[in-house]
Amino acid sequence: MPSSSSGATLLELDGITKSFGRVVVADDLSLGVSAGDLVGIVGPNGAGKTSVFSIISGDLSPDSGQVRLGGEVVTGLDAAARCRRGIGRTYQVPRPFGAMTVFENVLVAAQQGARMHRRASYAWASAVLDLTGLATEANGLAGNLGLLQRKRLELARALATRPQLLLLDEVAGGLTDPEVAQLAEIVAIVSADGIAIIWIEHVVRALASSVRRLLCLAGGKFIADGPPAAVLADPAVREVFLGTGVRSQAGDAAAAAGLAVEGLRVDDAADNGTWPA
Ligand SMILES: Nc1ncnc2c1ncn2[C@@H]1O[C@H](COP(=O)(O)OP(=O)(O)O)[C@@H](O)[C@H]1O
Ligand SMILES: [Mg+2]
Repeated sequence: MPSSSSGATLLELDGITKSFGRVVVADDLSLGVSAGDLVGIVGPNGAGKTSVFSIISGDLSPDSGQVRLGGEVVTGLDAAARCRRGIGRTYQVPRPFGAMTVFENVLVAAQQGARMHRRASYAWASAVLDLTGLATEANGLAGNLGLLQRKRLELARALATRPQLLLLDEVAGGLTDPEVAQLAEIVAIVSADGIAIIWIEHVVRALASSVRRLLCLAGGKFIADGPPAAVLADPAVREVFLGTGVRSQAGDAAAAAGLAVEGLRVDDAADNGTWPA
């Protein structure tokens, strides 16, 4: 069950530093996220958003600094142990077991991640499939799903682990506006249930209208943190999006593509799906 101590600090990053060679993805980064909060992160391609998620989830070790969950240091725990402590995440490129059914994928997450036993895990997997709009796909092979359904399954697998903190990495990437709205609706329901959510998204407009607090990561630092409208109006944030603003998905994609052209990063362009054709 999610923590009921809404308002208490659930996640703390304390002085996190991480580089890959000369690329600094986190430069003495600190962050506190309250239980039940709904927080968005934007930032140019290659800024290190996914890496920060990996440091929180245990897929990546920081060079220095601490990750705490509910006041306990989890920096030394592996991803599986952190998952059992209540950190659930999605991956930018969905990672389903393609040869298993949609239901089996979610069942594995419930049994491994949430340590649920057979009967409870079946009921929970069904509930999660209902919530994520995948009930009619339950018996199909995960490998046969289209993009929207793969994104839904990625969300379903993370939810099935019963997180208190859910990390969403570009779950809306590549989807149409109505599809993004459908996903945002699911996120709102999950949030209303008291699960803390940190949501990274390239579709800035959808993110800004969904979250209560928005951060912008650039140069290894959070250069802005506050209500979405204030963050998007911040000159420093506009600057990293090359002055094109963050008013529309197309504008954002162009801005991010522009940054990639400047050499920050181009290798995400093909897989995050928000790039114009
Ligand atoms: N495992 C890794 N090894 C080396 N470099 C990496 C690794 N993961 C990410 N990077 C680099 O770190 C930078 C940040 O990547 P990433 O966290 O994926 O950014 P974002 O999610 O903001 O686009 C990029 O330059 C990327 O190439
Ligand atoms: Mg990323």
